[in-house]
Amino acid sequence: MSQQGAARMEELVSLCARRGFVFPSSEIYGGINGFWDYGPLGVELKNNLKTFWWQRVVREREDVVGLDSSIIAHPRTWEASGHAEHFGDLMVDCRACKKRFRADQLDEAEPCPARQGTSEHDLTEPRSFNLMLETRIGASEDAAIRAWLRPETCQSIFTDVKRVREAARQKIPFGIAQVGKAFRNEINPRNFTFRSREFEQAELEFFVHPAEAERWFETWRDERLRFHREIGFAKSRLRTRPHAKQELAHYCRAALDVEFLFPFGWHEIEGIHQRGDWDLRRHTEYSGKDLAVTDEETKEHFLPMVVETSMGIDRTCLALLLNAWEEQPLPDGETRSVLHLHPRLAPVQVAVLPLAKKLAEPAGRLAQRLRRRFAVFYDEAGNIGRRYRRQDEIGTPFCVTWDFDSETDGKVTVRDRDSMAQERIAAQALPGWLVEKLEERP
Ligand code: GAP
Repeated sequence: MSQQGAARMEELVSLCARRGFVFPSSEIYGGINGFWDYGPLGVELKNNLKTFWWQRVVREREDVVGLDSSIIAHPRTWEASGHAEHFGDLMVDCRACKKRFRADQLDEAEPCPARQGTSEHDLTEPRSFNLMLETRIGASEDAAIRAWLRPETCQSIFTDVKRVREAARQKIPFGIAQVGKAFRNEINPRNFTFRSREFEQAELEFFVHPAEAERWFETWRDERLRFHREIGFAKSRLRTRPHAKQELAHYCRAALDVEFLFPFGWHEIEGIHQRGDWDLRRHTEYSGKDLAVTDEETKEHFLPMVVETSMGIDRTCLALLLNAWEEQPLPDGETRSVLHLHPRLAPVQVAVLPLAKKLAEPAGRLAQRLRRRFAVFYDEAGNIGRRYRRQDEIGTPFCVTWDFDSETDGKVTVRDRDSMAQERIAAQALPGWLVEKLEERP
């Protein structure tokens, strides 16, 4: 990563901790590598992203339904899916400093601190390391069953597909969507939340007739790119990258990454995969249950193919913050720190600010009314300019000021975060005005 990129990451990490977006898990014990906690603003941002994804992928479609499955599945699931056998990275150990590295990331390793006269690591031969995190189920240690925390959310979609399809009375083509936690025992967690050991995925598995797999792969690629543009990613920082044959995961026939330009380079935030019939075929084989479908008209009995879209919630949140964050020079020579988040995703949608403490009561009443529908922050501390700056830094798109005129004309001043322009709006009309702004498509 360039020096400039590293400095930008460092400043963002500091902003995230200071303002309560994201900070190390178990911080008072020195943190735990690869695990992060989302504070009051972070959890709102994350929830808004998940809600918007659910809105576009599930609620607005007749052919997609939702699922919330358990994190721990029957261990046979992971034998069938191939994860027990194949889900690993090649890693090497340094005999001197005892550090472990991914074999494909050695060029990024820091010099060895433990060897005299050389900075080179004393490396072992590469060995395969399974990334699944293990746990044990059961009261007594001896009888306990070994199980795994899921490394991707989608496998339960495959094992539940028959039940869900029948319950929801869906026919091919149709999809099942799920948002939830996944766990990978990454060898080198790094770049803040980008590569963590616990993270969230928003996954869609779309089941299609084999003859239509190609077409649906393209349809979902376009849908997902539209989504990423809608949440505000600049065209110049978003691209797609098809996988070369040798890169494909064991279950994939074709794959494409949606990549964002991070300060540490272009990296994947979402994968779009043509999984073929791999998963359904393997679960049919391992469970002995027939997961094929029958076309009512043609009577054809076939295993559907799967087109998958898999977005990382944490990576996308990190990309959103980097995409939105600006240190903006102002005409008066000052600089303001501002997050240009889409109003739909902003953790606080509207801040209510009384111009003077004397106006706290009516302003407080307005804030309370707005709270029923919007994420509101009420702030009466400090001069108005400073209060605006505090909201700019956390991405609040609208600040509403209740002033002395509001008492007589019933209007408030609404200040736009991005243009800093102000307009007078009737307080009564504010909820409708805000709804329109929040639903605006870029
Ligand atoms: N079911 C397919 C699947 O899991 P993947 O490409 O391995 O595919 C999908 O993961 C997405 O999950 C990635 O695009 C990324 O955003 C996110 N992801 C994967 N590993 C991650 C990690 N260690 N930390 C944070 N996000 C991760």
